[in-house]
Amino acid sequence: LTATSLALAALPASAQTAAIDSSALREEAKGVFEAIPANLSAIKQTDEDPQGVALTPEKIELGKVLFFDPRMSRSGLISCQTCHNVGLGGVDGLPTSVGHGWQKGPRNAPTMLNAIFNAAQFWDGRAPDLAEQAKGPVQASVEMSNTPDELVKTINSMPEYVTAFQNAFPGENDPVSFDNFAAAIEQFEATLITPNSPFDRFLAGDDAAMDEAQKRGLQAFMETGCTACHYGINLGGQDYYPFGLVAKPGAEVLPVGDTGRFEVTKTVDDEYVFRAAPLRNVALTAPYFHSGVVWDLKEAVQIMSSSQLGTELNPQQVDDIVAFLSAVTGEQPQIVHPILPVRTDATPLPAP
Ligand code: HEM
Ligand code: HEM
Repeated sequence: LTATSLALAALPASAQTAAIDSSALREEAKGVFEAIPANLSAIKQTDEDPQGVALTPEKIELGKVLFFDPRMSRSGLISCQTCHNVGLGGVDGLPTSVGHGWQKGPRNAPTMLNAIFNAAQFWDGRAPDLAEQAKGPVQASVEMSNTPDELVKTINSMPEYVTAFQNAFPGENDPVSFDNFAAAIEQFEATLITPNSPFDRFLAGDDAAMDEAQKRGLQAFMETGCTACHYGINLGGQDYYPFGLVAKPGAEVLPVGDTGRFEVTKTVDDEYVFRAAPLRNVALTAPYFHSGVVWDLKEAVQIMSSSQLGTELNPQQVDDIVAFLSAVTGEQPQIVHPILPVRTDATPLPAP
């Protein structure tokens, strides 16, 4: 026995709040979570195809240029970066996004950082992967309000883009296509991952990577049942649950008009069912929930405890869980803004 454990053994159990056994905590956590890898070399397409599609520097670079190019939108003003800002944890920091013609969209923009690890995309999981996902915002009238044909025309109007598509998709008859636009963006997004958070370093064996409050928070996160829904590599993003499993939050937080997965499956059981939000970098991505009305992470945790667990966490548990959630902020990708291809006379003009 060490001096510390002897000293603690003499205290009543209630006073032992600081006595966290890091090794035991780590073992338990490793059964629930996974660390973010330093980088990916391929994108898994299906379970039957474990090899996946290899990432290539040409596709990643092209995807980056497309991600930052506002001319992919009808107005010439809105790019993916507008709503998924790489300098802001991958979000726009608005309750709900503002898109084409200053229209306010219905939902909060989730981060694209680590989105590659989610089982399905969007708050309601309606897109199976990032390539399918990327086709959505381009066409959504409240987002970029473009069409696949116009987009391909825009890309084809700039020789630098045509060359980049040819190099990224060698040997293809028709490299400039909407599918390849989406595939390139997916490859860029697969590089937008945030390894080495204090939590990941703790999982890897570094006891000092998280402080005592963060460790107590991790313990509380597992003991009180958050991990029933927020598990795996992204602490969420894997499956769907009713928002308000135990008690429905108020209509401000859970607007009546957005029934979540019901709109995807048309099954009554899926009313107000949403994907358990991935919690990586959550300290950077306020405001919270699909409605984006909660700015304070502490309040979001309290809402979760009453709506999903049906228990009131004590104030210490809430503070500790918030401290833990600040430990899942990873290293943010350092992106150099690309120089975009020069327009030509054939490039479609910005349109209202
Ligand atoms: C959702 C990427 C453009 C607003 C997402 C997600 C990804 C993504 C990966 C899913 C994240 C997740 O479910 O965890 C992109 C890309 C874009 C783009 C690659 C460019 C092609 C935009 C723009 C806006 C926007 C321009 C704002 C006007 C949103 C919103 C959601 C979302 C509100 C959630 C929608 C829902 O769940 O129904 N985006 N995005 N995105 N994005 Fe984008
Ligand atoms: C969303 C934390 C328990 C399902 C969230 C968010 C946080 C959070 C911070 C908002 C993330 C964001 O907007 O980016 C917690 C904590 C829990 C807990 C600390 C334990 C006290 C649960 C449980 C379930 C669950 C047990 C499932 C029964 C969900 C769902 C969302 C969510 C579905 C998305 C809600 C929406 O549509 O806006 N959680 N959660 N959570 N969580 Fe939890």
